[in-house]
Amino acid sequence: MTDHHDATLARAQEEIERLSRELEETNRGVLALYAELDERAMYLERVSNLKTRFLSDLSHELRTPLNSVLNVSRLLLDGYEGPLTERQQHAIRLIQRSTGSLLELVSDWLDLAKIEAGKVDVRPSDFTIDELFGALRGVFRPLATSDAVALIFEPASELPPLHTDETKVAQILRNFISNALKFTEHGEVRVAAATRPRDTIIVTVADTGIGIAPGDQERIFDEFTQVETPRQHRVTGTGLGLPLSRRLARLLGGDVLLRSTPGVRSTFILHLPRRLPTPPSAGEPISPAMEGVGPRAAAAHRTEPTTPPL
Ligand SMILES: Nc1ncnc2c1ncn2[C@@H]1O[C@H](COP(=O)(O)OP(=O)(O)OP(=O)(O)O)[C@@H](O)[C@H]1O
Ligand SMILES: [Mg+2]
Repeated sequence: MTDHHDATLARAQEEIERLSRELEETNRGVLALYAELDERAMYLERVSNLKTRFLSDLSHELRTPLNSVLNVSRLLLDGYEGPLTERQQHAIRLIQRSTGSLLELVSDWLDLAKIEAGKVDVRPSDFTIDELFGALRGVFRPLATSDAVALIFEPASELPPLHTDETKVAQILRNFISNALKFTEHGEVRVAAATRPRDTIIVTVADTGIGIAPGDQERIFDEFTQVETPRQHRVTGTGLGLPLSRRLARLLGGDVLLRSTPGVRSTFILHLPRRLPTPPSAGEPISPAMEGVGPRAAAAHRTEPTTPPL
């Protein structure tokens, strides 16, 4: 009876030892795996930093000569080197336009790289929606030449003033409005603002243009993504405006949403906390404030590609 007992005990003991050896091996394997993952993560971070540095250095270097080209073109057109023939003027205007687009691309690029690196300054100030709309009206007045499309800013004098980065809000809305004008042949582009619960302001840019198919509505917020349509070939652009706008909005604690019916209309909606949330301590990534943005915004956040947990 005791013998049998001892034998069972010994077998159990052996089994335990075997299991603990196995466990130890597994542990060692897991540790090795962790070390490898750490190494990979470090490598990826280095690559990502290098990419950002490269992009921002490149953009900086490109901006200076492009600005010179623009300045010299302007001098020539102003007649500083003597009168120009029609054809010469035409040629210089072409140079000016192409250089302008290139400069815009480079600036957007630099902005994206800076946001990615967490190196953008957010400069809040106090301003009203009406002031903002006034400035935008001024920017677009010389451009909105078509009689078929009206650009309308709705009065917003009853809205409370904002305390956030006006330049960035204007940049986001400029992107929306120039898109709306590009993709609308008849009708109107209407810019309006309203308050939402929890001290949130929304600004909408609604057009009566070609619209965006449901399958493309999230995609167009990816860099360099444009929708293949006949109209696309007749307009300029590189596909950086929307991704940049969304990142800027998130930097200000807000977000960008889109509602569209293909062939009928598109409405781009900027959600913003009326007052810029207190900035996180230096070095920390800025996370978008989800409060007061509504479930649709939360859904938009969820569709953002996230790094899978390793
Ligand atoms: N209001 C709109 N109506 C229809 N399609 C739109 C509208 N706004 C954007 N799009 C689609 O989304 C694409 C991406 O827009 P985005 O502003 O990012 O780039 P872009 O206007 O092509 O170029 P960029 O803004 O860099 O000059 C557009 O090319 C177009 O296909
Ligand atoms: Mg655009």
